[in-house]
Amino acid sequence: MATLGVIALLCASVALTHAYNARHEVRKFPDGFLFGTATASYQVEGAWDADGKGENIWDRITHTNPDHIMDKSNGDIADNSYYLYRRDVQMMRELGLDLYRSSISWTRILPSGFPDKINEAGVQYYNNLIDELLKYNIQPMMTLYHWDLPQKLQDLGGWANPEIVTWYADYSRVVFKLFGDRVKYFITINEPYLVCNSGYGGDKLAPALNSTGIGEYMCAKHLLLAHAKAYHIYDDEFRPSQKGKIFISFSAQWYEPISDSAADVEAAHDANQFEWAQYSWPIYSETGDFPPEMKKRIAARSAEQGFPRSRLPEFSPEEIELVKGTSDFFGLNHYTTNQIYRNASVPQFNVPSIEDDLGVGSYTPIEWQLSETSKTKYVAWGFTKLLNRIKDAYKNPPVFITENGIGTRDGMNLIDDDRVTYYRGYLDALLDALEDGCDVRGYTAWSLMDNFEWTDGYTTRFGLYEVNYDSIYRTRTPRKSAYVYRELLRSRSLDHHYEPDLTQPLTIAPGH
Ligand code: BGC
Repeated sequence: MATLGVIALLCASVALTHAYNARHEVRKFPDGFLFGTATASYQVEGAWDADGKGENIWDRITHTNPDHIMDKSNGDIADNSYYLYRRDVQMMRELGLDLYRSSISWTRILPSGFPDKINEAGVQYYNNLIDELLKYNIQPMMTLYHWDLPQKLQDLGGWANPEIVTWYADYSRVVFKLFGDRVKYFITINEPYLVCNSGYGGDKLAPALNSTGIGEYMCAKHLLLAHAKAYHIYDDEFRPSQKGKIFISFSAQWYEPISDSAADVEAAHDANQFEWAQYSWPIYSETGDFPPEMKKRIAARSAEQGFPRSRLPEFSPEEIELVKGTSDFFGLNHYTTNQIYRNASVPQFNVPSIEDDLGVGSYTPIEWQLSETSKTKYVAWGFTKLLNRIKDAYKNPPVFITENGIGTRDGMNLIDDDRVTYYRGYLDALLDALEDGCDVRGYTAWSLMDNFEWTDGYTTRFGLYEVNYDSIYRTRTPRKSAYVYRELLRSRSLDHHYEPDLTQPLTIAPGH
């Protein structure tokens, strides 16, 4: 017993020393690790109907139902990056970025959604942005779909219509042809879970269909097939000459069991399966298809509810093969962690719905919130656990962190200490994962600057740069976190004690 006690004490002291070191030593990132920032077209571009751009589902929902957005705002002007992109690139030079992730607005390129007519002004805008980035050695990383579906395609059912596989494939070919000579990183789709769950199964994001328990699963199948088609088009027709990378970005939070009871452990596992493995398992696992636990639960609930077959559509054997292996990186958008417990009968769940199919409850302790105005819960260890789970589940694939950041509700505030704490903690957790052998290749912080935060409008801010929405110039000013990020990129290391001199302007970083 005494020996056991000594061992326990030793282990505790090793763990404490590790945590202490993690916070006090200067930790280096590996050579070649890439750093950037991320944004998305609808959230920053504005110019919603300029120069021939067609209407998308976010134009439609914000114009017809302003109450859907917390401050009744929209992305009509947003950060006005359509006109201010040079200032954006200047900010990236101040930060010293290796790359910039943003997205292409489908209707700016193809106003009708179909490739019958290419909008030259839209093409010119992306050419200008890409060329400006490359001029300063900043690699563009372009997402083809970050939630702004052409309204005309939505009128035909959007992601619930199987034809979208072809519509999206056609669009992707146009994009590769136009920009692939210079863009070497393409992301097919941003956060399938949010697209399908909040837009089709739920009513938070456009098109807000609220077809619970049905729409999200139809969307999931077509979205994965569309992604896979685009991947193969790139692989067959463009990769040989363009030599880039193409992948998909999953939203993956970490779901931690609230207790070590078998029921809660299984519940947390299911929650991880339903959120992100729903999309990553078909691509990364050896069996392909949706995760087996998920298929089983939905089939069982569907049968109980009187459906003649599972509400989760099946993939044919050919479709399973088409989807398998179609991602050069595991694109990961990660923000936070939830505690999970088994709860099969939560009364507020719709029946049928994905929440009811999953049957778990979640809880986040108040201590996980950094302050009253910080919205994203700070649970850095969850990031390390998630990265290790990806490593173990999928034979250590190369991972690219395509989003990570904290939302705050403190309005205009340049001294954003919560954001500094968050980034330092999460980057420390990432370094822990690298030490564990996880193959993470790069990181783009969300976000370069404040922007239209979907249903939160402009009430929640994520920017390293603050944007002044009261000014027609949409003035951008670096926050304390921008200074800290710049130093991190300069030194390629994490130093918790670095205190920037905020009286000095952020000038262009050397080499940019
Ligand atoms: C989305 C971004 C969004 C961010 C912060 C992600 O889910 O991809 O568009 O702004 O989270 O909420």
